[in-house]
Amino acid sequence: MNVDITFLPSGRKASVRAGTTVLDASRRAGVSIRTRCDGKAACLMCKVLAENPSGLSPLQDNERRKLAGTDRLGTRLSCQARVLGHAVVEVPEDPLKAAVRRQLMRQAEEDELW
Ligand code: FES
Repeated sequence: MNVDITFLPSGRKASVRAGTTVLDASRRAGVSIRTRCDGKAACLMCKVLAENPSGLSPLQDNERRKLAGTDRLGTRLSCQARVLGHAVVEVPEDPLKAAVRRQLMRQAEEDELW
């Protein structure tokens, strides 16, 4: 049985087999989620925010331990959370891209002053 997942903010969607990890679904949708351990729940770089947690598998002990101290409700590791129903997840902006974007905005504002 296939289920749908939507990735925000891009709005890209994928239809995947139920039980597929969010990380694998993101690759199918062409959405980039940072990872260093390639799905072994070691790097903690693949965090996403579940907009409707009922579409994802429940937290398992390993993921719960890894996310201990995360203060944002709905945070999941995309390599551990599996798509079980219609799911919507928000993918945080890559911190390096965010830093470059902020610097470019600052530079554009300075250029306007000249
Ligand atoms: S990919 Fe490294 S923790 Fe999920």
